[in-house]
Amino acid sequence: MSKPLVRACAVDALKDGEMQPVTGTVDPIGIGRVGGEWFAFENNCTHEDFPLTEGIIEAGEIECPLHGARYCLKTGKVRAVPAICSIRVYPVHVVGNDVLIELPV
Ligand code: FES
Repeated sequence: MSKPLVRACAVDALKDGEMQPVTGTVDPIGIGRVGGEWFAFENNCTHEDFPLTEGIIEAGEIECPLHGARYCLKTGKVRAVPAICSIRVYPVHVVGNDVLIELPV
């Protein structure tokens, strides 16, 4: 059974190192672009529920602007406290001009 895909944005919507929230999903999801790769992640810091797309991407990690928690972009694992729980990450597919996120069933 194929997994549902949701369109995150067009491939030219983000420059290298940028991220933005994805609209139209039930759970908050962010999309980011680094070095030609795309990353989709839970757009909610597990420390105190803050949108991670408000933060920055640096050295393969997302940093929450509120208290500085950091997460690995590829795995969602915590790299710096105060967060202790990982965020979910999602597979990303580029099809033509569209960046698509694969959602769990
Ligand atoms: S809300 Fe993100 S580090 Fe506190």
